[in-house]
Amino acid sequence: MSSAIVVGATGILGREIVLQLGKSPDKWPTIYALSRSKKGDFPPTVRQTSIDLTGSTTEMAQNLQGVTAEYVFFAAYLQKDTEQANWDVNGDMLQNFLNALETTGAASSLKRIVLVTGCKQYGVHLGPVKNPMLETDPWLRGGGDRTSFPPNFYYRQQDIVRDFCETKEVGWTVTYANDVVGFARGNFMNLATSVGIYAAVEKELGHDLVFPGSERFYSGFDSLTDAGLHARFCEWAALEPRAAGEAFNVVNGDVESWQNLWPRVAERFGMMVKPDQFVAGYGGESSSSQLADVAPLSVFAEKAGLEGRVVPGRLEQRVDLVKWSQREDVRKAWDSLTTREGLDKKAFEEATWSFLGFVLGRAYDLVVSMSKARALGWTGYKDTWTAISDVFDKLEEAKVLPKTR
Ligand SMILES: NC(=O)c1ccc[n+]([C@@H]2O[C@H](COP(=O)([O-])OP(=O)(O)OC[C@H]3O[C@@H](n4cnc5c(N)ncnc54)[C@H](OP(=O)(O)O)[C@@H]3O)[C@@H](O)[C@H]2O)c1
Repeated sequence: MSSAIVVGATGILGREIVLQLGKSPDKWPTIYALSRSKKGDFPPTVRQTSIDLTGSTTEMAQNLQGVTAEYVFFAAYLQKDTEQANWDVNGDMLQNFLNALETTGAASSLKRIVLVTGCKQYGVHLGPVKNPMLETDPWLRGGGDRTSFPPNFYYRQQDIVRDFCETKEVGWTVTYANDVVGFARGNFMNLATSVGIYAAVEKELGHDLVFPGSERFYSGFDSLTDAGLHARFCEWAALEPRAAGEAFNVVNGDVESWQNLWPRVAERFGMMVKPDQFVAGYGGESSSSQLADVAPLSVFAEKAGLEGRVVPGRLEQRVDLVKWSQREDVRKAWDSLTTREGLDKKAFEEATWSFLGFVLGRAYDLVVSMSKARALGWTGYKDTWTAISDVFDKLEEAKVLPKTR
């Protein structure tokens, strides 16, 4: 029997960890679910505790009186406008939370901390990366010839966890998720909700479905992470002795492309993909911009014989989704759709248009290796289209998307 604290319990990844542990009351009789808000119900073994991680260690320690567990799953996240601000706030939240566990004495019963991060580890937000991405790939730290890389809060968080655990002889494990497919309300990065609302509104407008991202990415490769599969991975990794002191990529295990997924999205909503979607004019405004001056792949250029060949990445939005979401015809279509189908109107504002535009607009491949976890016995797998379709089902139930069947 084990006990757990899940921090960020209402988020797209944290919520599934709570639900996963909650499925086995014999194994996990005590689960503390920590966040500021309470969104929806959890199984009876789950005790929801409100905490503000931006508070001081003393304030947090007061809220955490009586909260002790052997396993901590840290999946809290606050999005800020700059990478330096992300570094500051997300690092401080983790550090102060761990300090609070020390203050209350809860640190003494810890066995393992699982830190949830993502493939920004490899700079997927900065430009072309080396594919496949491997956990042994070098961190894109500043200094030397890599001074151009911005601060990466995952590096600070991993340093914090490792330092804390090493002094206390507690185990740690880190996960690197990519492009998460899951259910959440009002969070920062939500791929499935935004894709679903975009398709539903375009259908309401009587349009064929146009891929709003990059033509290059449409025919390239992506690796996605089902939030439920990631939660199963976290449970496995917390209990697997050989996963201690290790970081792992966590993706579904298939390599996908949007040229394969997009027609399925269209079919699900009873639509056609616009046959000449990348050729003919479309009412939507496009946009194009350069990403970081130095692409992460450049770190491998010399070794891989690519010197002078690595160019900065681009973000190509066939339909700029932020501009699309502000259009009057789009707003009106959502209004009439929500009124007719009894949907939750605020879901449109909660959808993360800038994030989706970024995810689909990257004009380079994202292939994430699962070899390291598999070598240690991880056999989990989820078909990516099934993952997306399952989340669409949940979004229909939650009245975010109209019934499609
Ligand atoms: N979503 C993705 O597509 C994706 C992809 C790859 C990696 N990741 C990484 O996965 C990690 C988790 O992200 P996520 O997307 O799951 O986050 P999320 O859905 O935005 O959820 C964030 C969680 O943190 C909690 N939180 C935020 N500020 C808090 C505060 N001040 N005090 C207490 N709780 C707070 C939120 O709850 P309240 O708001 O109720 O407090 C929520 O439970 C991050 O490192 C993220 O970068 C995410």
